[in-house]
Order: sequence, then C-alpha cells, then structure tokens
Amino acid sequence: MAHSRTLPMEVTWETLKKYHIDEDVGFALPNPLEELPEKYNAWILVAKNLPELIKTGQLREEVEKLPMLSTDDLKEYEEQCLGHLALGCITMAYVWNQADDDVRKVLPRNIAVPYCELSEKLGLPPILVYADCVLANWKRKDPRGPMTYENMDILFSFPGGECSKGFFLVSLLVETAAFSAVKAVPTVLKAVQQQDKETLKNTLLGMADYLRNAQKVFKEIHGHVDPDQFYNVLRKYLSGWKGNPKLPDGLLYEGVWEDPKQFAGGSAGQSSIFQCLDALLGIEQTTGRGPAAEFIKDMRTYMPPAHRDFLYFLESCPSTREFVLSRGDADLKEAYDECVQALVSLRSYHLGIVKTYVLDPAKKQSREEETASGQSEQEHRGTGGTDFMNVLKTVRMKTSQSLLKDR
Ligand code: HEM
Repeated sequence: MAHSRTLPMEVTWETLKKYHIDEDVGFALPNPLEELPEKYNAWILVAKNLPELIKTGQLREEVEKLPMLSTDDLKEYEEQCLGHLALGCITMAYVWNQADDDVRKVLPRNIAVPYCELSEKLGLPPILVYADCVLANWKRKDPRGPMTYENMDILFSFPGGECSKGFFLVSLLVETAAFSAVKAVPTVLKAVQQQDKETLKNTLLGMADYLRNAQKVFKEIHGHVDPDQFYNVLRKYLSGWKGNPKLPDGLLYEGVWEDPKQFAGGSAGQSSIFQCLDALLGIEQTTGRGPAAEFIKDMRTYMPPAHRDFLYFLESCPSTREFVLSRGDADLKEAYDECVQALVSLRSYHLGIVKTYVLDPAKKQSREEETASGQSEQEHRGTGGTDFMNVLKTVRMKTSQSLLKDR
C-alpha cells in the first residue's frame, strides 16, 4: 500500500534545490543568461534575428554559414541552457523557415553536432522544448522589479509579432503562479508523515487558493496572444518531427546519427508543474496503457532530468491521498477535494484555450479554403503531434475521478 511508504529523509528547501527547483521561480531557470562567451556570438546573433532573417529569405543561408564550434567552453549550466535554447530556436527556424511546404529534412552538421552535444550534457532532446522556450527564455526589464508581464521580456522569438512573447511569458507566469502551490510540498509531506491532519487541511486549502489564482493569470493569454497568429504562425515553428507527415521519418542530424530521429514539438505539456501536483495529490495519470498515460509519460522525457527525478521522488513518497482517505475526516476530505477541483478547473480552462487557439482557427481555415486531402488529419493534431483533445479530456477526467466527495 502506498501509505506504508516512508519518507527517505526530511524534505526541506535544500531537497528541492537538489532537484533544480528555485524558491522564487520554481521550475523556471532563475535569471537566465543573455550572452555566451564571445566565440558563440554568431549563434546568438542569428537566434536573435529569426523573424527578420526568415522574412528576407536569408535564414537558411546564414545558418549554413555558421562556424562549427566545440561546446567545451560552455562549462556553466546556465551557459549550456542558453546554448540549447539558441540552437533550438535556430533549428526550428531552419527546418520550417517560412512555414510553408519547403521543409528541410537534414540539419547541417555545423548546428547538429554542437546541438546534440549540448543536449546530451543537459539530458534534453535536440529539439526546442518547454524548458528552453519558456523556462529559460525570459528576463526582467528592471532587474530589481517584479515578475509581471509589464516588467518582462523574452530573449528569442519567432515570426508572428507579439505572439511568441505572449505565449511564452503567459505560460511562465501561469507556471510560477501555480508554483506557489508546489512550494507547500515539504509541509504536505511532513504533515502526512506525522499524521498531522490539521496542518495538512490548512495547507491543502492554501494550495487550492494558489491554483485558483493561477487560473486568473491564465486568462491574461487573451490580451497577449492572437488566435490566428498563434494557429497560423507560431504553432508551426513549435511543431516537431514525430508523427508529422511533413517529416515522416523525422530529422537527420548530420554528423551525429546515420538515421533520422523523431522528436515531439514544444508544448506546455512538457511543464512539470501539473504533473507535480498530480503526483503530490496521488492523481494517477501515468498508470495504465492508454494514449493519455503514454502522453504524460512521454512528456517527462522532454523535461530537464532533475525535474523528472522530482516527479519520481514525489511518486515514491507516502501518499497524501491515501492518508486523507484513511482518516475518514470530512473536513480533511473537503480540503483535499478543493485542491483537486482547482486542478480540474484549470484543466477545463485550458481545454477552452485549446478550442479558442487551435480548434476554432482550424475550422475557420477549412471553411475559407478547400483543405487539400491529408491536411485535415494534421489540423487535429497539437503542436506536440498528439491526438490532443482525447488526451486532454482523459487527463481532466482522471483528475476529477480523484475527487473524494462520494467516498
Ligand atoms: C495558446 C495557448 C495554449 C494552447 C493552444 C495549448 C495547447 C495544448 C495542447 C494541444 C496540448 C496537448 C499536447 C500536445 O499535443 O502538444 C496541451 C497540453 C498541455 N498544456 Fe497547453 N496549451 C496552451 C497553453 C498552456 C499553458 C499556458 C499551460 C500552463 C503553463 C499549458 C499546460 C499544458 C499541460 C500541463 C498540458 C498536458 C496535459 C495536462 O497535464 O493537463 N498549456 N496544450
């Protein structure tokens, strides 16, 4: 039984730091670097100018001209993160270029080799992931100012005007708002360990408040991201090469592997925050074999290894849910349910966002033009290439099935 598991040690902030979790920004990279050692300037210069280079048709030529650089001088973790982000943006731009049918299936060795080297050092796949474009792609305009949309900017963007900034920053702000709930992990685990139901009840109620606040932050997306720009432009640059008919075999990383490799595109499904809450509340998303469980498990392979390990760690801890069930205390059950309900509500809100930003523009587009055969299936796939509506609804259903109100 899960509640017979014991905590391997007392979980404190020091434990969380070991998993690359920051007290202020959570899973985000605190104070990402903006510059690399001088020798890597050419990468940064191209990555900073993607929209312009794509518009003027110069992008691919500029990428092919980049010098082949060793990554040995990127010693610090933050430097490796910036290198991975810059090369990830360059790779997406090189493959998709003007987001039409002219797609590149081979990534030249001058980019492929250092990119795969850095990916190996960081334990990430060689494709732009959420940990790059959201967690490491931000800065404060006034370094001493608050983390608000007004005081923030992104480091790299794609065509589509303000859409990149809106999508990446709102994702980050939802992430950090929801992190306020995750901050309670040490308290929750200790309360379960010590069978302290009063502390657990109050902590769960506080967490539910933070999750409701995260949903308010989510609403900001409407003010910053235009659905047509998102659907028709940005989404295409975030697309991957796994199950994508445009690159059926995947991408060939020249000078690294003999065969093409398939990787899913960037998606907030790669965020650790929701999975972390699932694990803490004992909501079983990864058990079973259906597409939703496979999707959630697969997304872990796109997370930084320290964050992935944190999810496994939480899953190995004594179960909050079983403790609540075992007490048979109505107030405690209600507090647990408030938290689960706040997560159901966030996921419902997210489903509404997916309708506004993917399903509606897709319908509008197919009304406007006769969709060529084979394209319609593609329109029902997310940026990560999954049959996403079924997956998202199953994940929400599993969350609401965890409510204890009828037990
Ligand atoms: C324009 C805004 C957004 C759109 C169109 C969108 C779309 C999607 C899609 C299509 C999926 C299914 C996976 C895939 O195929 O990639 C997904 C999954 C997911 N997204 Fe979003 N998303 C948006 C914003 C966000 C934000 C801001 C967050 C929170 C930081 C978020 C968190 C998640 C999570 C956690 C999943 C995995 C399923 C789950 O755990 O419930 N999304 N999203």
